[in-house]
Amino acid sequence: MKQHKLATRVGQIAPFQVMMLLERAKHLQSQGEDVIHLEVGEPDFVAVDAVANAGMEAIQQGKTGYTSATGLPELKRAISDYYLSRYQVGVSPERIIVTPGASGALLLMASLMVNAGDEVLMPDPCYPCNRHFLIQAGAQAKLLETKPEDGFELDLSTLAAHWGDKTSGLWLASPSNPTGAVLNKSYITEAWQKVSELGGHLLVDEIYQGLVYEGEDFSALSISDDIFVVNSFSKYFAMTGWRLGWLVVPEWAIEGVTKLAQNIFIAAPSVSQHAAVRAFEADVLAECEARRQTLDARRLVLLDGLGSIGLPIVAPAHGAFYVYVDVSGVTEDAMTWCLELLEKEKVALTPGADFGIKDAHKYVRFAYTCDEHGLKEALVRIARFMAS
Ligand SMILES: Cc1ncc(COP(=O)(O)O)c(C=O)c1O
Repeated sequence: MKQHKLATRVGQIAPFQVMMLLERAKHLQSQGEDVIHLEVGEPDFVAVDAVANAGMEAIQQGKTGYTSATGLPELKRAISDYYLSRYQVGVSPERIIVTPGASGALLLMASLMVNAGDEVLMPDPCYPCNRHFLIQAGAQAKLLETKPEDGFELDLSTLAAHWGDKTSGLWLASPSNPTGAVLNKSYITEAWQKVSELGGHLLVDEIYQGLVYEGEDFSALSISDDIFVVNSFSKYFAMTGWRLGWLVVPEWAIEGVTKLAQNIFIAAPSVSQHAAVRAFEADVLAECEARRQTLDARRLVLLDGLGSIGLPIVAPAHGAFYVYVDVSGVTEDAMTWCLELLEKEKVALTPGADFGIKDAHKYVRFAYTCDEHGLKEALVRIARFMAS
């Protein structure tokens, strides 16, 4: 009989625990239950109309073939202009590689910079797929312990002690998923200084760029042209399903990354690219800014509400659309707590175990991706659940 054997790496990839919860939430909803979704890491907005219309025009005009492997020249130019006008940083279009989502950019990054057997340092907790992109490259992530009292910021003074022969680099994200914390410019500057002294690469995932409510909204590219940066249209531009992102690389990596992009993707989705060119015009940016303000208002409602029901917030929720909360005062295991909360009160949250290892069972992530009314109702239900 034929044996069906998957590649070993498949066994090394952890499924998202939240998927089980999401399935259950969807099932409850299909039974007519009123589920409040605070678990999903995507905006409840869709692409701004002008952008969606540009996509429809592209289809009507038959602009649906492959584009150049590193992206439509006019889109690369628009992204480059945006870096200059909004973040006062010069990034030549040649250094911008348009990819299928930030996910495509992370996969390219792992393929570009990491050898089999290498390891890449990152803070615990962090975006879970990072580890899996590295496994794809035959490498692995080394999650470094952080402390809630430091807002889960990696202590850079310990970096050299964790660095070994096989360490390839450090991957950071700001604003962070799952904590919502924002790293400041002096932190990234110090990280870059340390990583370059140690001879590695630094990647900063800026996918939540623009969604900053407190602190500085800047790009790591303003610190050095040798830092790698990932970004996407998924969050600030609310285009998750359009599958479009980008990777910025130093000059010396353009040739290598172009070969990889050609071979791995051929091109990012062309309709999405034509639509995205429209995203950087003033009317669209004004709408994105209005949405940022809406998210900020929700954030304040959530922070206030969590305070009044006595759930401690463990990282400064200054960006993205997440708040990371300690539930260890009310449960031994956040996953079980989330499942029970969903069954009893129909509120869906993401347990910390999806993001980290150390003490992950203590935490849950709230995504404020529903309106203020929904958030307030969720808080009432959570308080009732905690009192029951
Ligand atoms: C930190 C981070 N990086 C990358 C991604 C991937 O995003 P996408 O592929 O939709 O651009 C996500 C998605 O939630 C994320 O939170």
